[in-house]
Amino acid sequence: MSLKVTWFGHAALGLEVGYFHVLVDPFFTGSPVSNVNVDTIPADFILVTHGHGDHVGDTVAIARRTGATVIAVYEVANWLAARGVQTHAQHLGGGYRHPFGHLKLTMALHGSSLPDGSYGGNPAGFLLTTEEDKKVYIAGDTGLFGDMRLIGEEGIDLAVLPIGDNFTMGPEDALRAVRLIQPRHVIPIHYGTWDVIEQDARRWVERVKSECGDTKAHLLKPGESLTL
Ligand code: NI
Ligand code: MN
Repeated sequence: MSLKVTWFGHAALGLEVGYFHVLVDPFFTGSPVSNVNVDTIPADFILVTHGHGDHVGDTVAIARRTGATVIAVYEVANWLAARGVQTHAQHLGGGYRHPFGHLKLTMALHGSSLPDGSYGGNPAGFLLTTEEDKKVYIAGDTGLFGDMRLIGEEGIDLAVLPIGDNFTMGPEDALRAVRLIQPRHVIPIHYGTWDVIEQDARRWVERVKSECGDTKAHLLKPGESLTL
């Protein structure tokens, strides 16, 4: 059972875990860097890190069409459930065994108001452990925090980290995050969508090589994948 991770631009990811299609933060409509067709993309589960519009994105439309279950913190899940979406609420520190793997919610230093201003609780990251014991840490929108070291202690195969700066960690702090987590692989995201988060990701990937031990960094273009 392989694990394929596709970056759709900004913070949107598609995980193919065995037969399951898992979308993360599916912001496509209005994204300057996505050409995903919202009407056809498959989804069995949708993970939403927090309530901001560039992460909730097309969740409601895709979940209604596909019947996908949306996993998010309680407050965001309630907001989505009120819009006719099937949800599974979790909260920070809590793990649950879903059909695609065990998912634990991790802390994130950020905000989480929903698009209409509703309270979204705390923002989250995700730690997915697949049946084959592959561990993927999706940090979500976050600043650097020292407890990333604790997440790293779990033995991370792939970390997906924001590097855009301004709203999240920038390149320097993301390098420090890699050194705390010590993942086998890392993918930078949440950059290049708009001018304010423009970054030289190629340079960042090179710096991981020279400054972060054995971690392999992967520069993906929107739509490209990494298979673990
Ligand atoms: Ni955000
Ligand atoms: Mn964001």
